[in-house]
Amino acid sequence: MRCDLTPAWKALTAHAAGATGFDLRTAFAQDPSRAVTLSQTAPHVFADLSKNHVDAATEALLQELARQTELSAHRDAMFQGKPINNSEGRAVMHWLLRQPEGSLGGNLAEPLAWVHASLKPMLVYAETIRADAQITDVVNIGIGGSDLGPQMAVLALQDFVIPGKRFHFVSNVDGHELAAVLKGLKADNTLFLIASKTFTTLETMTNARSAQAWFKAQGGQDVARHFAALTTNVAAAAEMGITTTFGFWDWVGGRYSVWSAIGLPVAIAIGAQGFRDFLAGAHAMDQHFQTASLEENLPVRIGLLDVWYRNFLNYTSRSIAPYHSALRRWPAFLQQLEMESNGKGVDRHGQALPYDTSPVLWGEPGTNGQHAYFQMLHQGTEVVPVEFIAVKNPTHSLKYHHALLLANAIAQAQALMLGKSDAGGHKHFKGNRPSTFFLLDQLTPASLGALIALQEHRVFVSGAVWGINSFDQWGVELGKVLAQDIHARMASGQVAGLDASTAGLLERLR
Ligand code: F6P
Repeated sequence: MRCDLTPAWKALTAHAAGATGFDLRTAFAQDPSRAVTLSQTAPHVFADLSKNHVDAATEALLQELARQTELSAHRDAMFQGKPINNSEGRAVMHWLLRQPEGSLGGNLAEPLAWVHASLKPMLVYAETIRADAQITDVVNIGIGGSDLGPQMAVLALQDFVIPGKRFHFVSNVDGHELAAVLKGLKADNTLFLIASKTFTTLETMTNARSAQAWFKAQGGQDVARHFAALTTNVAAAAEMGITTTFGFWDWVGGRYSVWSAIGLPVAIAIGAQGFRDFLAGAHAMDQHFQTASLEENLPVRIGLLDVWYRNFLNYTSRSIAPYHSALRRWPAFLQQLEMESNGKGVDRHGQALPYDTSPVLWGEPGTNGQHAYFQMLHQGTEVVPVEFIAVKNPTHSLKYHHALLLANAIAQAQALMLGKSDAGGHKHFKGNRPSTFFLLDQLTPASLGALIALQEHRVFVSGAVWGINSFDQWGVELGKVLAQDIHARMASGQVAGLDASTAGLLERLR
């Protein structure tokens, strides 16, 4: 049943109306066990949810909503390989990429065998490149999911990255980006990874062709050694003369593809065992999502909280605050994951929705954000839930820095909640601002894998309750088609039929 037509939705609407005076400070005073009951341990991740605008009654109603919208059946359909991406007629099986070898039977045995038959040569290749001292620079050319996941992960795991190799990520069709990277490179020392699920994406194809032209102009000869394609479209890569290819399948969505051949830069950076640990961390989270009860299931609890905030408390955005500088691309990665998955205005069957879906995600690492936009989070007119991530044990020895960093993360969450009422006017903080606090023991391949899988599943949960297809992205198509038309008009100067604004801009730029 559509979520807004369920009895639970009605009950949540009434509950929200009755909870307008909800105050975190009162909630903690009234319920001494709140910090415990609203915390959740999951593989590699501890989550303190207690500074959110929920209580046990809210959670119980949200779980009822999950039951009435058949969340568990939808989750099971994904893990059974059913074609839940119905607008493209595809199964959704990124999770299979981290499933241990030989662990599934039935219809999944064969795809799981393909997964491992592909993973092994990819990891052998990664080790070969790691051992190849001549290759000092690895350039990943890809965009969207073929860029954000591997880029975020290589940065996040910088302390595990093999010394002596540099990793570059070129995504934008803006030639400034490719030109700046190429400037510092030598053909003989460079490996280009052309990462594109479809091998048709304009930006990636344009950058790949320019990289090939540069390689040849530098006297580069051996394309098979210096270019590899990561794609589901091996034929298109071959047409470009790229014969070293690592494949994957159409049932892996772009924004869910870091576990596939698209993860090759990560595997080169952290090694075969590191990549296996990364997969294992994610698999542990898959198992948690599949087996924990709704009440103790972290992706379910935070996914339902997202629905509560978006549809009942009308919070329109979520600020992501990783207190770890190596997680600086984490907000960008999450933006695609959440907003491309759940930024939909129709249900699975294409019917317009009368309720809101994906929030806006944004953020920067702490403590930087504190000196930029946290002002608005503390005293602005809009309530923005904040999602902190902190890591207990650093990989450096600057203990004093790390204690300060963690103290700031905790203090910000505390300040948002407590506010300050002993001063008026400019110095008054209303407080009662919600936040979630994720804590990892260490940032490792395994814990990063678990953290990403947690986010994938939380997006699944809200998308499933909203009844949308979280695995297509038709909304990106129109701009691509119009860009082709405008590009042709830039050459011809033809503006007939265009609106006055578009025509005016075109004429200025010609
Ligand atoms: O345009 C959006 C998109 O299709 C994303 O979903 C995807 O991650 C990105 O483009 C790149 O696509 P590809 O890997 O096929 O080049």
